[in-house]
Amino acid sequence: MIALVGMPGSGKSTVARHLAKRLGMPCVDADQEIESQIGCSIREYFEECGEDAFRTIEVDVIDQLTRRNQPSVLATGGGVVLRSENRDHLHARCYVIYLRAQPEDIYRRLRHDRVRPLLQVRDPLQALKQLYALRDPLYRDVAHHTIETGRPNVNALVNAIAMQIEMAGLTNSDSAP
Ligand code: S3P
Repeated sequence: MIALVGMPGSGKSTVARHLAKRLGMPCVDADQEIESQIGCSIREYFEECGEDAFRTIEVDVIDQLTRRNQPSVLATGGGVVLRSENRDHLHARCYVIYLRAQPEDIYRRLRHDRVRPLLQVRDPLQALKQLYALRDPLYRDVAHHTIETGRPNVNALVNAIAMQIEMAGLTNSDSAP
């Protein structure tokens, strides 16, 4: 199983979809799985129950999804690295790729976003910088490989990741590390 981690807006879901298609594997989106289990949007859940309750469900869902041990591409939520259980499960059970993007680039892409709860604040760029300072070391820690996303170009990113997967010796029929 290949897992993509990175900041919100770093392109995980889009890249995961394209990469899965390229590799002939199913694509799994952890946030979608969480929403189908809680029966409402993550934004609503954050408002009603708070971030901590969300993180606890996220731990459960990441555990379930990474246990499946079948070839697939998993897109994770940006905060997945905050809980150590998630870092342990992802690193041990998946080949983890960090899509690294700078806060300024993400801000440019997400400044009109009204969905992501953590960015609905007065100064989203400042919020992104704080998230990045906290999380960049965690993403690097959990990842087997880091890809600098720079200017977003899905095709180039998918090519780079597919090449890296090949070099790591992961094939379509056996994607475990
Ligand atoms: C979060 C990112 C979101 C989602 C939730 C929390 C975060 O996923 O899991 O809103 O803490 O950064 P994306 O990274 O897909 O935006």
